[in-house]
Amino acid sequence: MTTVAFYDTKPYDRQFMVAAATDVIHWVFHDFRLTAETAATARGADAVCVFVNDRLDRACLEQLAGCGIHHVALRCAGFNNVDLVAAGRLGFLVTRVPAYSPHAVAEHTVALVLTLNRRIHRAYNRVREQNFSLSGLVGFDLHGKTCGIVGTGRIGRVAAEIFRGFGMRVVAYDPFPMADWAAAHGIEYRSFDEVLSVSDILTLHLPLTPATHHLLNADTVSRLKPGAMVVNTSRGKLIDTKAVIEALKRGHLGGLAIDVYEEEEGIFFEDLSGEVLQDDELSRLLTFPNVLVTAHQAFLTREALSEIARVTVENLSLVGRGEPFLAGTRVEEAG
Ligand code: NAI
Repeated sequence: MTTVAFYDTKPYDRQFMVAAATDVIHWVFHDFRLTAETAATARGADAVCVFVNDRLDRACLEQLAGCGIHHVALRCAGFNNVDLVAAGRLGFLVTRVPAYSPHAVAEHTVALVLTLNRRIHRAYNRVREQNFSLSGLVGFDLHGKTCGIVGTGRIGRVAAEIFRGFGMRVVAYDPFPMADWAAAHGIEYRSFDEVLSVSDILTLHLPLTPATHHLLNADTVSRLKPGAMVVNTSRGKLIDTKAVIEALKRGHLGGLAIDVYEEEEGIFFEDLSGEVLQDDELSRLLTFPNVLVTAHQAFLTREALSEIARVTVENLSLVGRGEPFLAGTRVEEAG
């Protein structure tokens, strides 16, 4: 039996993980996040299981190593929250779930675009108050418009194909283009600059790395087509929030739909409805009628949760028995 300290636990995590691991894993579920301050709670476990807002910096990893733990199992695809250099030096095996459901994230991306464009978020509230006026709810046809996809990995490709289904022109930028796929779906690879300047909707589907931090900043945002809508379901720090707030105020940016936020750690996944929000930039974003924020829920489908649980449990039990982890799930320094 492998003992796993599980952090940032939500009811759906518990439900899907327990169902996937009947008698092979002893779970120790913690509601709080894993950080250097909480790492001592892992003592006695064989491995830790973490999510996007747990913070596995050097100090945290040193504490885990001191507790005799050598396996970090991420139950997500992104791994920007783990100091991989420190993890490598301390001899950690870091695994993740590289692809649980690209459809879940791509479909949420499209849901954000449709909601924001057709003002469904505003219409929903209006009609519930018996306000049946249509003023201020004018959207635009997706058909014939241009969608720019930055990052044509698993999720970006699914999103691109769905947008093609609306009759949109789809242009894409990726340092590793997939020419055959693009040709098969009528998608055009262009330079990053061109994608910025021609897109009516620009959507980000790339990992957060030092090179992609603030990919959208004051300079790149100013090169977007005036009135463009920006969508981010990847990682919050891809966008410089201050720069997009300025562009929204000027009217240069036509809309912003985000499922991730630069400083979401400690805010997203929590019910703060009775509290005073301390984050001034998020508070400002929430005041714009043309900004839509969801709290990192793009992955949240039954299919994705089942697959996350299956791969995570299999890796934890394989490694616990001293057997090789699943191919393709190891995260290494080179990323
Ligand atoms: P992937 O690894 O399959 O694809 C990423 C793509 O980005 C690759 O094709 C890569 O070449 C490209 N890329 C790297 N640097 C780039 C750059 N500077 N410009 C343009 N493209 C670049 O990853 P996948 O599965 O498609 O996931 C994308 C991101 O979505 C993840 O990194 C993760 O952060 C995020 N994500 C968000 C979720 C949510 O619930 N909101 C759930 C799952 C993933």
